[in-house]
Amino acid sequence: MHILAIDTSCDETSVAVTDGRKVLSNVIYSQVLLHKKWGGVVPSIAKRAHEERINFVVESACHPRGGGDPELLNSIDYIAVTQGPGLAVALEVGIKKAKELAKKYRKKLIAVNHLEGHIYSAFVQNSQGNPKRDFNFPYLALIISGGHTEFVIFKNHFEYEIIGQTLDDAAGEALDKAAKLLGLGYPGGPVLERLAKEVRNKDGHNFPRPMLKSKDLNFSFSGLKTSFYYFLKSNNHVIPVPIRGQAPAGIQLNGSPIRSGMTKESKYDLRQLASSFQEAVFDTLIKKTEKAIKFTTINQLIVVGGVVANFRLRKLMRDLVKKYNGEVLFPSYKYLTGDNAAMIGIVAGFKAEKSLFVEDVGRLDRIPRMSL
Ligand code: KG4
Ligand code: ZN
Repeated sequence: MHILAIDTSCDETSVAVTDGRKVLSNVIYSQVLLHKKWGGVVPSIAKRAHEERINFVVESACHPRGGGDPELLNSIDYIAVTQGPGLAVALEVGIKKAKELAKKYRKKLIAVNHLEGHIYSAFVQNSQGNPKRDFNFPYLALIISGGHTEFVIFKNHFEYEIIGQTLDDAAGEALDKAAKLLGLGYPGGPVLERLAKEVRNKDGHNFPRPMLKSKDLNFSFSGLKTSFYYFLKSNNHVIPVPIRGQAPAGIQLNGSPIRSGMTKESKYDLRQLASSFQEAVFDTLIKKTEKAIKFTTINQLIVVGGVVANFRLRKLMRDLVKKYNGEVLFPSYKYLTGDNAAMIGIVAGFKAEKSLFVEDVGRLDRIPRMSL
């Protein structure tokens, strides 16, 4: 059963062809370079880039070896698309294209929740059917991305219970904002990781760990970001300032174009600052995850989303589950940590088995704040 899946939830235009849990092709056209100088995703730029690129990405996914052999497209059984959560103007582009293809090829349409996609990314297989890991419910899932930080009990296919989430910034967003304060550009997570790797004492500054005393499983990262800001300010660390220029409409992340703020006056080692901030975020994630393991008594973890590309975080998670004789599953391949359509296609495969199709294709609309 072949599915053509589309994800345009944020700043990657992605299309995949999947067969059950196998990925036959997956193309991701990233917009990172377009958004970089604004220090975050600019909706109007994202929308235009998705519109300009979507046809090319669909074609590339269907003809992975080039050459225009429409074999894959002819063999498609269903079309799948991300309905939400995500950026409204970005989601709309994918949904419009999915409707168009469903109509043209007379295929049924499957709407997928992007967060469900991230959870299933731990079960995606390559075209050879590897890894072979099977479902063994229940799991404790932690989604950590630029937009979400959520604990979910994954009880069975399509059965979720959210038991904790961020009250303000997501973990990835916190890393992005800290990197922005340091003048390191966007996205911040990978740059902080690179700098942190060079430091032996990972936690020299010991920034605050938010919400650890609270009894629940929620997160809050905005206070950490604020204390980081004041730390930099009170220590004469020059914070990057906006440069003059017209910001595009609807800019996010207090966005204005940024320039590097590092100067000779800086008192602290940039690598130490990056590492200590990263450590404060990760330590919070680990301690809350430990609490969630105790609360649910589930020691099988799924940890997914863009931030889990980070090797330090993976190591900390592995060490944690060892203590509880459990195991932790990460996205099965690195490209599945960030946004991609392959994970959407895999969820759609399970939905197709249960005949969970969109009933009225014409009325399918994006849900920017869709929850699980
Ligand atoms: O899942 P994702 O690609 O997009 C959303 O759905 O949000 O996650 C993007 C987030 C960004 O905040 C980015 O800084 C973070 O993932 N990220 C990382 C790393 N790579 C990406 N954070 C820490 N370490 C990394 N290596
Ligand atoms: Zn995502």
